[in-house]
Amino acid sequence: MTNQTLTPADHELLAEARAAREMAYAPYSNFHVGAAIRTGDGRIFRGCNVENASYGLSICAERVAIGSAVAAGSRDVEACAVVLPDGLRATPCGACRQWLTQFNPQMRVLLVGSDGTVEVTTAAALLPGGFEL
Ligand code: THU
Repeated sequence: MTNQTLTPADHELLAEARAAREMAYAPYSNFHVGAAIRTGDGRIFRGCNVENASYGLSICAERVAIGSAVAAGSRDVEACAVVLPDGLRATPCGACRQWLTQFNPQMRVLLVGSDGTVEVTTAAALLPGGFEL
């Protein structure tokens, strides 16, 4: 689904993801990513990527946002917005797809494209055959 009509709530979540991107700690890749999660209680949680000198320990914006929501007691994730640096298409990595799916396969996922248009999809659509216990 691309270029679907975005709701005011979608626009708010996208703005939060862009604000989160400003906080990215990416001294190694210089690739700044922002994410925002909306939960069922109407709260929004931001995430940015946080890198580490031991590169493999870096964490993506999406997982930081989800972890923030969970730590605040809000696990009912309804939507997630992701923005990469301007001009690049957001497409969550495999680990983040697994994390998103864990908390709601049907969550609305908003991915900003290279031309700024927003792709609207779901966690389940992003991760067919994801791992389940
Ligand atoms: N990154 C994210 O935070 N989210 C994504 O969806 C893609 C990649 C981060 C990880 C790393 O800090 C940097 O972007 C380059 O891969």
